[in-house]
Amino acid sequence: MSAPRQPSLPLLRLEVVQAYYGLAHVLQGVSMEVRSGELVALLGRNGAGKTTTLRAIMGLVAVRSGRIDCGGENVVGLATERIARFGIGYVSEDRRMFPGLTVRENVRLAALGASLPRDEQEPALQRVLEVFPALERHLDLDASRLSGGQQQMVAIGRALICGTRLLLVDEPTQGLAPNLAVEIARTLRAVAETGVGVLLVEQNSQMALQLADRAYALDQGVIVGGGSADELRESPKVLEQYLKL
Ligand SMILES: Nc1ncnc2c1ncn2[C@@H]1O[C@H](COP(=O)(O)OP(=O)(O)OP(=O)(O)O)[C@@H](O)[C@H]1O
Ligand SMILES: [Mg+2]
Repeated sequence: MSAPRQPSLPLLRLEVVQAYYGLAHVLQGVSMEVRSGELVALLGRNGAGKTTTLRAIMGLVAVRSGRIDCGGENVVGLATERIARFGIGYVSEDRRMFPGLTVRENVRLAALGASLPRDEQEPALQRVLEVFPALERHLDLDASRLSGGQQQMVAIGRALICGTRLLLVDEPTQGLAPNLAVEIARTLRAVAETGVGVLLVEQNSQMALQLADRAYALDQGVIVGGGSADELRESPKVLEQYLKL
């Protein structure tokens, strides 16, 4: 059971967001919010629009109408780089490592990309190691040759280095061995406990509801339901209806 959280201003609020890929109307009025310190799961079947929602937040998909407020400011239409400066870390589905670079270099490059001053880069790396101590012995290995779980740690660590207030994570445990999936899940919970808002996209609703404070169900680009994870865990039928499982 997760402790009830103090009310706070939403870090992220989507209001009736409509987004298209070409002529395909993928997000058909998505409204949701994430507060500081909250772990919120976005659940839905294949093709529901979960990844598109994260991409819309990051300005990687054209939003035709609606608002996406980050820290109270509408970011629709801003460049991805500017949106990231609101303190948003995005871990995409493919957890892309910079090829041929070591773990250390991957983190450094992310710090450079975020314009972190040189003298703050080593402390940033140390913060990543605090979150994922298991990475310490892999620091000088080619990151693209690590296991899926280790790459996921680097990807999440990289997304957390520069004052991240909101972490968007797309199916982080997909394809991982169960013990690694549990470790990643625990880490996301711990990240939320530090006050970061976490939006976790998951197809595995059972796992996500063990972890989350709240959840939304997305189906065919529409939020069809949601509530506290405790409630949804206790009434799986409701979730099944939402997700048409
Ligand atoms: N680049 C694209 N161009 C055109 N259509 C796309 C593109 N990416 C996704 N779509 C379509 O948009 C819809 C939503 O896709 P999205 O990837 O957001 O789903 P998802 O919920 O993340 O699914 P999954 O669980 O399989 O990752 C799907 O119908 C998909 O086919
Ligand atoms: Mg997806």
